[in-house]
Amino acid sequence: MKHSLCFQNPILKGSIKVPGDKSISHRSIMFGALAEGKTVVRGFLKGDDCLSTIQCFRSMGVQIDESENEIIIHGVGFSGLKEPKELLDVGNSGTTTRLLLGILAGLPFHSVVIGDESIASRPMRRVTDPLKKMGAKIDGRENGQYTPISVRGGKLSPIEFIMPHASAQLKSAIIFAGLQAEGITTIIEPEKTRDHTERMIEHFGGSITRDHNRITIEGGQQFKGQTVNVPGDISSAAFFLVAGAIVNGSQLTLTDVGLNPTRDGIIDVLNQMGADLTVECEKDRAEPVSTLTIKSSQLTSVEIGGSIIPKLIDEIPIIALLATQALGTTIIKDAEELKVKETNRIDAVVQELKKLGANIDATEDGMIIHGPAVLHGGMVSSRGDHRIGMMLAVAALLTNEEVQIDGFEAISVSYPEFLSDLHSIAVNQ
Ligand code: S3P
Repeated sequence: MKHSLCFQNPILKGSIKVPGDKSISHRSIMFGALAEGKTVVRGFLKGDDCLSTIQCFRSMGVQIDESENEIIIHGVGFSGLKEPKELLDVGNSGTTTRLLLGILAGLPFHSVVIGDESIASRPMRRVTDPLKKMGAKIDGRENGQYTPISVRGGKLSPIEFIMPHASAQLKSAIIFAGLQAEGITTIIEPEKTRDHTERMIEHFGGSITRDHNRITIEGGQQFKGQTVNVPGDISSAAFFLVAGAIVNGSQLTLTDVGLNPTRDGIIDVLNQMGADLTVECEKDRAEPVSTLTIKSSQLTSVEIGGSIIPKLIDEIPIIALLATQALGTTIIKDAEELKVKETNRIDAVVQELKKLGANIDATEDGMIIHGPAVLHGGMVSSRGDHRIGMMLAVAALLTNEEVQIDGFEAISVSYPEFLSDLHSIAVNQ
């Protein structure tokens, strides 16, 4: 589906409550299913990815009720999950795929995980290799690298696993397997990645030990159903933070935004670039929450690399757009993981932004952006990637010419109401 956007000297004013955090929403369904008793989830993201997670657990016999404001999961525990009759279809969701594989690894039945074209090209051996080491029988295209992947789970042994990639999906998969292994599993991260799985284990009454980048988890724990309040997704808020920072004369407030310290890299980047940003932290729930107010200002370039990368990995497409409006040369490095996201996000960002007049080049592990650039209209593509689609829609605010985005429907993966939220705060002058 093509979507055309054409703004005339817009300014952005008002307040938005972005939809629930995608990572936390996935995990709320998984832990709700793995706990005994009822779990109530409020603020759940009803995007395609999280709906895929719901469907996979329904296929394993879990009753999940959806109403306007709540999701109710009737948990069955690890041992209550049933062999699915149908294929487990993860759609476009890498998080569902990898975390689910960790759960399936310890379950005494056969299952087959499939997904869309993008999932079928994303590397899974990073997960399937260590799960095989723990004792699961897993196969898939290219020796377990690509979906469809079949799993015959069963008794698992614990491992000490030094993660070759800074990936929360990989870490979480091994945690889920470790929860089913006999004994203590140890995981060592190269850099700290998002810790929603660890927080949720504690929220559901389990325990996990964390010492710098070393995580230990004991198998055989039982969880109890809980209420989960999902905060707004910082990765969705990021589009409006950047829009407010770069569209002259703007002031935007974003309420109820999750500000987990393993996800707040974009806040550091905005501050370093000279953004006019106010962060008000609210009461600390299982996950920290904040209200963010951004006003447009003069921005300068920045260098981004090293341990901050996992804290902003999903925000790099929109940070690239931000950098096109900053004075100087922005360098983004150590971000090769971008190549194996929903699409190759280094190529997608660079090639699509070039079409709109950005001065941007790809490197092996990131990109170099020279700013400020005057953007113009054009025909671009989301390449089936929700975050590329939304970044290009924000780029359309910077020109009075038409920007036509092919494949715009991809945004429904994480932010189905993105367009109406954008139009609710953009006033043409
Ligand atoms: C996620 C982890 C990250 C992130 C993805 C969600 C998660 O992926 O990019 O959008 O919920 O654990 P990686 O683990 O591949 O870095």
